[in-house]
Amino acid sequence: MITNTKLISFKTFNDNYGSLIPLEVEEDIPFAVNRAYYIFNVEQGVRRGFHSHKELEQILVCVHGSVKILVKTPFESEDILLDQPDIGLYIGPAVWREMYDFSSDAVLLVFASMHYDTSDYIRDYAEYEAFARKYFSAM
Ligand code: TYD
Repeated sequence: MITNTKLISFKTFNDNYGSLIPLEVEEDIPFAVNRAYYIFNVEQGVRRGFHSHKELEQILVCVHGSVKILVKTPFESEDILLDQPDIGLYIGPAVWREMYDFSSDAVLLVFASMHYDTSDYIRDYAEYEAFARKYFSAM
């Protein structure tokens, strides 16, 4: 996995009544969750995201269907298929992300460490690249 990203496996409780995945802050999600949102009804061919965050941490879970996520820094990149409700993709600060190939039934659930704050977004790739080079050289 590239820097500031990781896949997290969640424990599933399966029984005769179905399946259940509990997510506990600190045990399953490595930050205090201040916001959640979900993306669905994405038409075929749509690519979205195209931004990084300065500080925000997130966990993406494709709870239904499938979606691909490109995660990228100035130094490395990776395409990740999310198609299981028991896998979370952690994305930390200073990682560029794009989401694509949503299946028509995809539901992408996202947990975020901070409230919605447009000043934490970097949407311009050149600006991102300058920010990330500084961020990662200070690590
Ligand atoms: P946008 O940032 O374009 O989504 P993407 O992650 O694909 O880049 O968000 C779509 C709209 O939703 C935009 O008008 C901002 C709004 N929004 C909120 O109001 N709160 C949120 O927490 C998020 C993630 C988006």
